[in-house]
Amino acid sequence: MGILIQGGKVVSAAGSFQADVLVEGEKIRAVGAALDASGHKVVDASGMLVLPGGIDVHTHLDMPFGGTVSADDYEWGTRAAAIGGTTTVIDFALQSMGHPMAEAFATWRAKSEGKACIDYGLHMAVTDLGPNDAWLDEVDQMVAQGITSFKIFMAYPNVLMVDDRTIYKLMERTAKLGALVCVHAENGTVIDAIVKEALEAGNTGPLYHALTRPTVAEAEAVHRVVAISELAGRASTYIVHVSCEQAMREVEAARKRGLPVMGETCTQYLVLSIDDDMGKPGFEDAKYVFTPPLRQKQNQQPLWEALRADVLQVVSTDHCPFRFSDQKTLGRGNFTKIPNGGPGIENRMQLVYHHGVNAGRISLERFVEITAEAPAKIFGMYPQKGVLAAGSDADILVWDPKAKYTITAATQSMHTDYSIFEGFEVEGNASHVYSRGELVADRGRFVGRVGRGQYLHRGLPGA
Ligand code: URP
Ligand code: ZN
Ligand code: ZN
Repeated sequence: MGILIQGGKVVSAAGSFQADVLVEGEKIRAVGAALDASGHKVVDASGMLVLPGGIDVHTHLDMPFGGTVSADDYEWGTRAAAIGGTTTVIDFALQSMGHPMAEAFATWRAKSEGKACIDYGLHMAVTDLGPNDAWLDEVDQMVAQGITSFKIFMAYPNVLMVDDRTIYKLMERTAKLGALVCVHAENGTVIDAIVKEALEAGNTGPLYHALTRPTVAEAEAVHRVVAISELAGRASTYIVHVSCEQAMREVEAARKRGLPVMGETCTQYLVLSIDDDMGKPGFEDAKYVFTPPLRQKQNQQPLWEALRADVLQVVSTDHCPFRFSDQKTLGRGNFTKIPNGGPGIENRMQLVYHHGVNAGRISLERFVEITAEAPAKIFGMYPQKGVLAAGSDADILVWDPKAKYTITAATQSMHTDYSIFEGFEVEGNASHVYSRGELVADRGRFVGRVGRGQYLHRGLPGA
């Protein structure tokens, strides 16, 4: 017996049409008008949108950072993702300096084993190429194991930051292999100097995290890494968490020159701003200490426009949650000690739908493209993921476009004691969420099995 999702509007990047979706086992068997229901369990999807499950390609689950560990492990992070309509995540394995990549791969597989509730892939965050670049060969080994995207940090000196030479050597190798390099683009060295000046002047409160990381430091790093990628043989490059117009314009310029440069922004940069959400009394601003920081509100519309015009291809979350009560407070009296990161894996689909589609900024089809189809293509998972088509995994999001919901920490599944979107009202929410044919979330309730999520052996990047 299969599952027939009947009478909904099926959406892809290419268009929308009334159709039924037949699921057999873990796969989609057919998508078409008036499919035969006999022998199948029928799910009435009339009035609903039927979408490919969301794909969030930027999460940090169970990650040691800032003297603590991110508050959602693989179980709780992927539960929250499923509730919000996301059926695939790509998380980061972090190579420790002085240790090979293989060690990080094993560590992150162990973190996820028996815990992930939806399918997941890994990027490898490269911090060290080893003596005489000996570990460059590990890049090939990672690709063979399904890690086809690498991450480098141009920020966080002495923790994660790599120098330009390392970026160049890594990109030379990935360009040959056809793999992708994801980049946290900020000039970490200059930012460190600005931070030192702020602390010396007695500016130690959480707002100074934002004030010491100017937009030009992000734009400069995007410009530089694009140049390095060109020098390295036009290496495919994906700029993560583009937070401001100035950095986005650098991505735009690179694409206009025909370089294989892509970019994502994150939900928080689209709907929150330093003007609206920071400058709160006491230590409240620590809730918004993530990197890059919130920007002036005037950056939001250009970022939406960049998503519409395909200057940016993806919206992710950079979900890196820390509790306010005992984690963010590590930085009372010194903003540099506040663990950087915020929660959001549960709310991406709601917020992008409401502020994007309902607000007329992007089409329904583009919504599906930037939250599922493009991430699947860019990160080597298409058409297994990211589309509702015969033969694809039955990762299906039945979306109620009329459901009203108020985001609040009181009812969220993420393990933080606050929400950066507290009180936000949205129209449109996940109704039923299937992961490889299994119902994992039912109107905000997790109904899946812990540990059922599978590691994704990804192919080389597509689009
Ligand atoms: O503040 C953030 N974004 N924390 C996670 C690490 C990163 O830079 O993505
Ligand atoms: Zn980052
Ligand atoms: Zn991140």
